Amino acid sequence: MVNSLDFVNVTEKAALAASRFMGRGERDAADGAAVEAMRAELGEMEISGRIVIGEGERDEAPMLFIGEEVGKGGVSVDIAVDPVEGTNLVANGLPNSIAVMAIAERGGLLHAPDSYMKKLAVGPKAAAFVHIDASVADNLTAVANALEKPVNDVCVVILDRPRHADLIREVREAGARIKLISDGDVDACIATSIDSTGIHVAMGTGGAPEGVLAAAAIKCLGGNFMGRLEPRSPEEAERAKAMGFGDLSRVLEMDDLCKSDSVMFCATGITDGDLMRGVRFFGNHARTHSILVHGNGTVRFIDSTHRLGARPRRR
Ligand code: FBP
Repeated sequence: MVNSLDFVNVTEKAALAASRFMGRGERDAADGAAVEAMRAELGEMEISGRIVIGEGERDEAPMLFIGEEVGKGGVSVDIAVDPVEGTNLVANGLPNSIAVMAIAERGGLLHAPDSYMKKLAVGPKAAAFVHIDASVADNLTAVANALEKPVNDVCVVILDRPRHADLIREVREAGARIKLISDGDVDACIATSIDSTGIHVAMGTGGAPEGVLAAAAIKCLGGNFMGRLEPRSPEEAERAKAMGFGDLSRVLEMDDLCKSDSVMFCATGITDGDLMRGVRFFGNHARTHSILVHGNGTVRFIDSTHRLGARPRRR
């Protein structure tokens, strides 16, 4: 029998490993440490797990590659992971990097290609009133009405990228506020569904695998996430088609991205963020902060203290 806290232990260990690299400018080392820690913990679990979203295809990722079987045997599950969501954030010691995982029954999570996805995420109150094909102004008006706020109280998170210049202009013209982020749109999308964050909408284009992870969490939280694949090249479009995405312009709704109703999502903060605190070290211990959400709507914030092994030698 698998306890859902065992999954939280996996993201905790990944976050602890990555956090050692905070601000050290070594994004690959941070990612590598988290991948190794996550894989070691998954290997100890009584599951027959299959990685459906991971570090890449088998030939490009030594661990947690797509299709890799993990666990000692037991209940069959599909697993989507991002051991470090926001590798640049960790490397630069910036907020909102997280270790992330979603777990569902076989076939419960979309096997998304390594491509871009246009995304729209909102929380539960606005869930029924927005659409990825509606104009930015219409969506923001709908969110404002649903939240019973003026549009200029609404806060939209957007990745700070040149490709978002028009989107940023349209949001400003509509009168909403913007929080530009340098990386980490999973955290931003999920934040729309948690009241205390003050974030109401996430819009823009980011990684497609990250879209599935965000959708899994938002499904549990009762918000809405819609996406559309946006391949960056003809090769990427071909790969998506080869994976079974016939019509690439199709809107991917929540149930396309996360079919499962019994999905579980957990994440642990690596650096401090809107949802969770980052890893803090004290004495021979470290403290982590995680979120665990279930398809049944239960949300848990978990504050854990870990006794550490030998202190790493100063380099
Ligand atoms: P990594 O953790 O793989 O570095 O991804 C961070 C991220 O910012 C995601 O949150 C986002 O979806 C994607 O990269 C955006 O991609 P790009 O940096 O190419 O705009």
